[in-house]
Amino acid sequence: MKKIQISPSILSGDFSQLGNEIKRLEEAGADMIHVDVMDGHFVPNMTIGPPVIKALRKYTSLIFDVHLMISPVHKYIEDYSNAGADIITVHPEATDNLDASISKIKDLKRKVGVSLNPETKIDIILNYLKKIDLILIMSVNPGFGGQKFMPEVLEKIKKLKTIREEKKLNFDIEIDGGINFENSKLAIQAGANILVSGTTIFKSNNGDIKKNIELLKSS
Ligand code: DX5
Ligand code: ZN
Repeated sequence: MKKIQISPSILSGDFSQLGNEIKRLEEAGADMIHVDVMDGHFVPNMTIGPPVIKALRKYTSLIFDVHLMISPVHKYIEDYSNAGADIITVHPEATDNLDASISKIKDLKRKVGVSLNPETKIDIILNYLKKIDLILIMSVNPGFGGQKFMPEVLEKIKKLKTIREEKKLNFDIEIDGGINFENSKLAIQAGANILVSGTTIFKSNNGDIKKNIELLKSS
């Protein structure tokens, strides 16, 4: 049984002081930091890029779990690695050569993440599972925090967990979007071992992020 880890999304944090937010999250028990990169093209929103990630790198030694919601993505992978990304997660929907993007991330000695939008079937990544360190299952359509959880994606997690056991693989299963204190239990039961959360961590219980991380971790 993999240890349950919490990867808070800074998208829901105070963008005027992201460095301090990251320090707060580390002190509150975050296992890694989920950094949502958006380009206004792959998703209808824009956030931060390599210069900001580079500036944030010195605020923590925690893993930067970087979720690239950008297209094209391949030509920018090295920039995110150089900025300090530890896990680089790409969307197959954003690259015409997933294999090349996976190889590029591995060549840069970073962990390979692949993220599937709610309507994307797991079939498109089954041939790559041996090369993937983490599968990020979106439980919302990417672009914004605070959206409603889509429970139908739990089926994908169950299937991936079964395949992982059958093929004796070891990739992590991360879920991202609308996670709260109720559906986190369902996600873990389905087989997720990393929970991304922005709104629930930053806004619940009067913004007590330590309590919120602990509640999610004990789901
Ligand atoms: C959405 C992002 C998610 C989002 C999660 O496109 O990928 O990481 O920030 O935020 P909540 O937990 O508020 O849905
Ligand atoms: Zn994300």
